[in-house]
Amino acid sequence: MPSDKTEISSVDIASQTPDKQRLYIETYGCQMNVSDSEVVAAILQQQKYYLVRESSMADVILINTCSIRENAEQKIRHRLAALKKYKKNSNGPVIGIIGCMAERLKEKIFEEERIVDLIAGPDSYRDLPRLIHEAERGEKTANTILSFEETYADISPVRLDENGVCAFISIMRGCNNLCAYCVVPYTRGRERSRDPQSILREAEEVYSIGYREITLLGQNVNSYSWIDDKNDVDIDFPGLLALLAGKFPDVRIRFSTSHPKDMSEKLIKTISSYHNICKGIHLPLQSGSTEVLNRMKRKYTADEYMDRIKAIRKYIPEAAVSTDIIAGFCGETEDDHQQTLDLMKKAEFDFAYMFKYSERPGTLAARKYTDDVPDDVKTKRLNEIITLQNILSLHSKKKDPGKIFEVLVEGPSKKSGENYMGRTSQNKVVVFPAEDSKPGQYVHVKIEKCTSATLIGRIVKK
Ligand code: SAH
Ligand code: SF4
Ligand code: F3S
Repeated sequence: MPSDKTEISSVDIASQTPDKQRLYIETYGCQMNVSDSEVVAAILQQQKYYLVRESSMADVILINTCSIRENAEQKIRHRLAALKKYKKNSNGPVIGIIGCMAERLKEKIFEEERIVDLIAGPDSYRDLPRLIHEAERGEKTANTILSFEETYADISPVRLDENGVCAFISIMRGCNNLCAYCVVPYTRGRERSRDPQSILREAEEVYSIGYREITLLGQNVNSYSWIDDKNDVDIDFPGLLALLAGKFPDVRIRFSTSHPKDMSEKLIKTISSYHNICKGIHLPLQSGSTEVLNRMKRKYTADEYMDRIKAIRKYIPEAAVSTDIIAGFCGETEDDHQQTLDLMKKAEFDFAYMFKYSERPGTLAARKYTDDVPDDVKTKRLNEIITLQNILSLHSKKKDPGKIFEVLVEGPSKKSGENYMGRTSQNKVVVFPAEDSKPGQYVHVKIEKCTSATLIGRIVKK
């Protein structure tokens, strides 16, 4: 799952009513946080709050935070420094830290960041009305209890996306994998799957209001499992995908993030047999060295990872595969790094998110290993990885000019309002003259040229 790449999202949806309170939510971190902000908005809208677009107008400011790397937390601290101006007088807004940083640092945040009034971890959002109420009375207030069951299954999220076409649906929460470098199991607790009936209900909801792409979210989404002996239900991730894809044939289904250990043949075959299950697969590698993978506690070897890639290529030849890579993990040698570059070439990744290793307090790596790759070496290795991936990404795009792709129109492209953007099933961004197409429609686009990030083409009749 992507990390701290998501920019701020908020939306103004209500008319002014005197007894209502203005709520501003700012979201950092992965898609799961974006999805959680939608749950938070829903919980608070049932009370006396409505959403506003500007922090300066708000009575309550909630910052949904990420802890994945040191710089993700730094960004939030800078943001808090900028919000200090609102607290100059006594009737300034309530400022709350929610999400992963809230869970990781708990009440310590009150000592470090004086302007924070409220702290809520990812499993305590139902408690937000009470917490905000206490903060309004001038108390510092926190709830960071993690749950074994909470999935917010009954809550209909308020959609905060910009395009009205692509929706996130969380299908599981938490993570049991305990990769040595990763803070997520500590900030989001144990893995738990969500009742499939509630997932179907949410999919129906978004479909009925025009959404045509659903991304199923979980930290280890392909270990989804729901067993209900009483009602004779036993459904795994391929089963859930097939259920959704069959029920909504004109909706694209994506999912993020898969763990290689759960990328089963059954799952690959399911993806290949439904046209509307997208052929863009995100499969984080982390390192191409089995020794490093072993120290990372990733539960697969470099060869096993390549086997998964080969199986994907065999059953879904048109698939695009993207990945996550960490440069400079504890004990990583130059030879380990070369193995990562080699595997990237063999796998021919279409796209990658690439990071410098950042030690996170409390993780196995922080407790047991030494963060011994010097920062300049980490930077050098990361740059080599990025340079190689740029070549691979361009190579992947260069295969496409001349081909015709089905594209789901998302809306105006960033650069020019006359052009629209959408994505192929492989998750490649396509820009094309809008003509008479509309967001939410499928069009066929013939690709004319490309950059390493974008395909450029023209709508054709098929
Ligand atoms: N659950 C997902 C995503 C987790 S976070 C998965 O397992 O793939 C997204 C990415 O951030 C990870 O895949 C990893 O590449 C990166 N990451 C996680 N912890 C990190 C750390 N301590 N330093 C640098 N990158 C990290
Ligand atoms: Fe973190 Fe590993 Fe879980 Fe992903 S699978 S969230 S990297 S512990
Ligand atoms: Fe996501 Fe960041 Fe938490 S990547 S799970 S918001 S630590």
